[in-house]
Amino acid sequence: MTNKFTIKRINRFSKKALEDLNNLLLQISTSGYQMDSTRLKKVIKNKNTYLMALYEGEKIIGTITLVSVFQIRDHKGYVENFVIDENYRGRKLGRKMISYITELAKRIKIEKLELKSESHRVVANMLYKKLGFNVVSANVYDMKL
Ligand SMILES: CC(C)(COP(=O)(O)OP(=O)(O)OC[C@H]1O[C@@H](n2cnc3c(N)ncnc32)[C@H](O)[C@@H]1OP(=O)(O)O)[C@@H](O)C(=O)NCCC(=O)NCCS
Repeated sequence: MTNKFTIKRINRFSKKALEDLNNLLLQISTSGYQMDSTRLKKVIKNKNTYLMALYEGEKIIGTITLVSVFQIRDHKGYVENFVIDENYRGRKLGRKMISYITELAKRIKIEKLELKSESHRVVANMLYKKLGFNVVSANVYDMKL
């Protein structure tokens, strides 16, 4: 990664950050989910949610979130909302972001990382395996409340 790219935790709300992140969210899923400012402020305020941004100058061109959760068995980290702007893909920036978040997780004493990825996300799935994630077979359930 050249020096023009930096990875930082987003710890202050700005309209620009909201706009850049929403642009990236549209590139993860076509569902069209967009954060409003209240949501972003809550995410930033939550000390166990590490919302990370990859910057080129002032512009956010990638994001990844690490959520730290203390549980009965272990201290777990959930990796969520990982995306690199489509104009910057294939330049090893995604690899850098996963490595960064893994080091961050180690620093805060997370014992195990978990993430979910649909099988059609070919590049993401290859990358996770290359970086040491194991495929765990499990039924994933959810319930909208
Ligand atoms: C997944 C994603 C973040 C990867 O970001 P990226 O910056 O393009 O990835 P990298 O350049 O670091 O490449 C990662 C690996 O995949 C390989 N790769 C990259 N683009 C590829 C492509 N189009 N086809 C095949 N392999 C590819 C690279 O060779 C690299 O492996 P290497 O480092 O051993 O050479 C990006 O593709 C993306 O945002 N996808 C859409 C959102 C998404 O699927 N997110 C994951 C949700 S679970």
